[in-house]
Amino acid sequence: MTQQCSVVGAGYVGLSTAAMLVEFGFDVQLIEIDEERVDLLNSGRLPIREPGLADAFARGRAQDRLRCVPPSRASLEPTLAFACVGTPMWHTGDADLSQLESVVDMFHTNTSRTIMVIKSTVPPSTNRMLSDRYPSLRFVSNPEFLRQGSAVRDTLNPDRVILGSNDAEAMATVRKIYQPLADQGIPIIETSPESAELIKYSANALLGIKVAFINEVADLCEAVGADVDDVAAGIGLDPRIGNQFLKAGPGFGGSCFPKDTAALVSSAKRLGSPVTIVDAAARANIRRRASLAHRVVNLVGRQYSDATVGVLGLTFKAGTDDLRESPAVDLTNELADHGVTVTAFDPAVETHPEGVDSRVRVAPDELSVAMGADAVVVATEWGQFSDLDWTKIAESMRGRIVVDYRNIVDRDKVVAAGLELHQVGKPPATPSDPG
Ligand code: UGA
Repeated sequence: MTQQCSVVGAGYVGLSTAAMLVEFGFDVQLIEIDEERVDLLNSGRLPIREPGLADAFARGRAQDRLRCVPPSRASLEPTLAFACVGTPMWHTGDADLSQLESVVDMFHTNTSRTIMVIKSTVPPSTNRMLSDRYPSLRFVSNPEFLRQGSAVRDTLNPDRVILGSNDAEAMATVRKIYQPLADQGIPIIETSPESAELIKYSANALLGIKVAFINEVADLCEAVGADVDDVAAGIGLDPRIGNQFLKAGPGFGGSCFPKDTAALVSSAKRLGSPVTIVDAAARANIRRRASLAHRVVNLVGRQYSDATVGVLGLTFKAGTDDLRESPAVDLTNELADHGVTVTAFDPAVETHPEGVDSRVRVAPDELSVAMGADAVVVATEWGQFSDLDWTKIAESMRGRIVVDYRNIVDRDKVVAAGLELHQVGKPPATPSDPG
């Protein structure tokens, strides 16, 4: 008989987990509180843009092994439930566990013995706290490491699977689910819930530190005339350092790094064991993101109210339509807030998005962004921005400034078009001095 399970939360983690469980042969009930999202999914459409997800969902639906329901229509029969709800940031930096608590509440009955697999990112000791509070349920911490833009691929081919539990039987049940991945040689680490929780936070914190570090090195490169991409390549070849997450840019964003670094800082402080290095990286990142607009206006050399800027990219990184905690949105809003006329274009954004200042005009293409602009700023590393027709762009612009916060544009082409290029951690390039 097909095994049944519930997945709660139809966000990036829940949708990818549901796709994985269908692939593993489960019958999946996807529980989602947002009824509009339920209807959308049941009509065969997806609320997010993720490669491979549409196919995986179509397969699940065709085999009648995937259905989406609101909590009011959910069956509590499956004794295996994956909690994949958000743990957003409180103003204090702490993780808000209220969504997770309502999920656990839903499955908590005196007799259930349901295994709750906690995939949501939670601070250390959360699983223990939940086990103490809900003795009828069994908890396994199973943090998720997927990246947006490659969520399905990462879920089906993770670097590792982490399982943390004090309940040997529950651990063995969940371990068995991941057997197809173990068979492919993917390491499965079985540990305590506290260690599993800390593995997740430490991984994100260390990656965030790497990004914040290389961004400060980029500033230093600008001060001494060095090139941060060369420095990153040079240090990244040392296998103890590794070449990933050493791309300098506008600062880290998205729904995970800013929230998880803040939550780790806050929990560690409360536990009397502060993580000062993570704290410093998070602060450096906030400062960096706050300085993006000022640098552009400074280069334009006009009064804010007299400046026109075109922004290329709004999402927090390429390959996703997610604008949460996006440095590109910070930049755009900060410019608009200071009276700058701003036009923005993003290939993943069609209509004026929530969270973007209403004074910002959202344009249909790159050229419209350049029209009359004193400066064009590349804020997200979409592949198409590395291959733009800079001659046409230069003809449309009023000014000569290009700021490339992602170091992806073709330096020679920008300069050949008579424009002045400012990248991150590199000497500027001007038409008379191609650098
Ligand atoms: C991140 C982690 O990479 C995932 O492993 C983790 O599962 C996920 O958070 C999460 O906790 O849910 P994601 O937020 O999708 O994934 O994005 P990343 O690709 O890690 O990028 C995070 C931020 O760092 C972005 O703003 C990106 O532009 C920035 N970044 C990344 C850089 O500025 N430079 C780099 O070299 C790499």
